[in-house]
Amino acid sequence: MQTLSVDLGDRSYPIYIGEGLLSQPELLLNHITGRQVLVVSNETVAPIYLAKIRESLSGLQYSEVILPDGEQHKSLEVLSAIYDKLLEDKHNRTTTLVALGGGVIGDMTGYAAASYQRGVNFIQIPTTLLSQVDSSVGGKTGVNHPLGKNMIGAFHQPQCVIADTNTLTTLPQRELSAGIAEVIKYGLICDADFYQWLEQHIEELLACNQTKLAEAIYRSCENKAKVVASDEREAGIRAILNLGHTFGHAIETAQ
Ligand code: GLY
Repeated sequence: MQTLSVDLGDRSYPIYIGEGLLSQPELLLNHITGRQVLVVSNETVAPIYLAKIRESLSGLQYSEVILPDGEQHKSLEVLSAIYDKLLEDKHNRTTTLVALGGGVIGDMTGYAAASYQRGVNFIQIPTTLLSQVDSSVGGKTGVNHPLGKNMIGAFHQPQCVIADTNTLTTLPQRELSAGIAEVIKYGLICDADFYQWLEQHIEELLACNQTKLAEAIYRSCENKAKVVASDEREAGIRAILNLGHTFGHAIETAQ
């Protein structure tokens, strides 16, 4: 396992990267300070990985919410299912939310954590390459509005990010490729050596070689952590991380 830090003073946190991390409950438990926990996942990811997380959290007051899968569900209406469960199960301000899934789950869970009782802790367990190298790191959270993507949100940093490369073995090839495109972004914007490394190892990445993927995730998160540490709220340089996103969002909206 490799560990990186996002340096943000008293809101600093580690990113754990490696194979089989979901089988190391202490990684998760070390970052849960209260007795309550709510896991948010989706209908695609939950059947594969949720049982392991549930088992890891068996000593705590445990709740879970399974949301429908897909960007079209990243809405205020679907978000309210998280608040409903938190209130039904009487979660207080010491609760911790755990996001188990891709970027949609991470963004929605993060925003629920930012807003529930004016802010509670949360942990990111990203299960796609795209979310492991981008959305789970840096504290951008939120949901879409019919008039615009990510228009309702908050900056809210997680307690930690756990990126288990085993989860990438169940990703459809298209999703893996989307993540690799995001990895290439870091080479283009700030790391020419990494770009050369990617040229040499692209076939292994596309073939889901976990050692190479772990290295690519590490280098990507290292670059992202530096940018976020210098401009957490995107007043300037952080906008560099949006390379390709604006076009992507426009294409997605037009589809
Ligand atoms: N996804 C771009 C950023 O986190 O700033």
